[in-house]
Amino acid sequence: MSPGDAPIEWTEDGRPRSSLYGDAYFGADDGLSESRAVFLEGCDLPAAWAGRRSFTVAELGFGTGLNILALLDLWRREGPPGGRLHLFSVEAHLMPREDAERALAAWPELAPLAALLLAQWPGKRRGFHRIDLPESRASLDLALMEVGEALSLWEGRADAWFLDGFAPALNPDMWRDEVLQAVAARSAPGARAATFTVAGQVRRGLAAAGFEVRRAPGHGRKRERLEAILPGQGRDPGPAGPVAVIGAGIAGAAVRRTLLALGVEAVPFEAEAPGAGASGNPAGLVTPRLDAGLGPVARLAAQAYLRALDIYAGLPGAVISRGVLQLAATDRDAGRFARIAASDLFPEGTLRLLDPAAASARLGEVTDRAGLDQPGALSLDPRGVLEAWCRAPSAGRIESLAPTDGGWRLSGPSEPQVFGTVILATGADLRHLWPAAPILPVRGQVSWVAAPDPETPRAAGWGGYLAP
Ligand SMILES: C[S@@+](CC[C@H](N)C(=O)[O-])C[C@H]1O[C@@H](n2cnc3c(N)ncnc32)[C@H](O)[C@@H]1O
Repeated sequence: MSPGDAPIEWTEDGRPRSSLYGDAYFGADDGLSESRAVFLEGCDLPAAWAGRRSFTVAELGFGTGLNILALLDLWRREGPPGGRLHLFSVEAHLMPREDAERALAAWPELAPLAALLLAQWPGKRRGFHRIDLPESRASLDLALMEVGEALSLWEGRADAWFLDGFAPALNPDMWRDEVLQAVAARSAPGARAATFTVAGQVRRGLAAAGFEVRRAPGHGRKRERLEAILPGQGRDPGPAGPVAVIGAGIAGAAVRRTLLALGVEAVPFEAEAPGAGASGNPAGLVTPRLDAGLGPVARLAAQAYLRALDIYAGLPGAVISRGVLQLAATDRDAGRFARIAASDLFPEGTLRLLDPAAASARLGEVTDRAGLDQPGALSLDPRGVLEAWCRAPSAGRIESLAPTDGGWRLSGPSEPQVFGTVILATGADLRHLWPAAPILPVRGQVSWVAAPDPETPRAAGWGGYLAP
């Protein structure tokens, strides 16, 4: 079964119920109060995050997102000043956005937060999906896959766990000893875990994984719930040190945008001006990487492509046009296109295989090549992106970079400065700061001409590319 197959029925009192597992997503005694009692109180929130700059909560069983919204609501009201909340949740069968919307409508007090989450509800593609919630000083990484795989891939350390698979009797997979061991292994010292069930298997599994487990009075009709805690004292991870990003082209700007969404303000360095290199071209194409290996790298790139389209679409003035036709340069290309188009790498409709006649019609001139139409691909004005993401003034040209205690010493226009982390986003200029960089610059050239009418030419790639 692929993520996304989440057959839902509705109970008479309007709660979603999984026909796959035969269990409801939350109990009959007001799901929101239940979330608060079982998971927030069960993990000793807000007390557990007092004084923290950063706090991580992980959940097994994302469902409607109700627990996460209850948490964000508490964080908004009682989070530590200036703190960042990192959320991680796992879901093997993501429900359609419309079903989540219907379920969450029961709590008007959550409506503004629910709207932010629903607006970024991911498609059902397997993989990790990042949902930025800057208004809440939070970000959510949602792993759409089986719990075991998700826990083996996640690199975080949780301070609190919401264990919310369906009832163990109906869904034993979610409560296997190996899963609970992985929960402990991905926990920070002093981590807490909470769940609605007091099943013996869960109590024993948590205890065997190293948690101290205790029963607490349950919510509503449920007599008891579980609270668990690992030995040790929770504390903030050491400071990452100030971060420098060298280069203010698209790559540097995108890195800074992502860091900012995670609560890290990076210092930009740029020798000339934002977009002084190739990112200053008046247009560029955003197209998928066509990797017929169909392996993990291909999947990562496919997911990154879809996320990039979403992010660029939200920037005023960045998108010039939509739709790019990729033409096969060789017979091998044509085979590659066919293999990728027939795979499940991209959602339906992302790629359309065209024979030479259809490619000619799409191109507006005769070609004997097969084509791959990419209706969502973009012609992008990089300057629109840089304007949105490169507002901070840059601190000038860096001449050299040397390792030192606590990080890297940057020598540039003013006194040398030390940064814990330095990100080089200087394109082909990389060797200036890192002479042994294993890169091979490739010469490129673009020309631009005034188009006779704004509808032509349409964007195409064939080895070279043409962007309106
Ligand atoms: C009780 S519901 C979670 C309710 C949710 N926390 C909320 O706030 O709405 C359990 C969820 O776990 C998911 N699930 C069940 N078995 C799973 C597994 N083996 N791996 C990942 N997710 C699973 C189900 O699809 C379901 O969405």
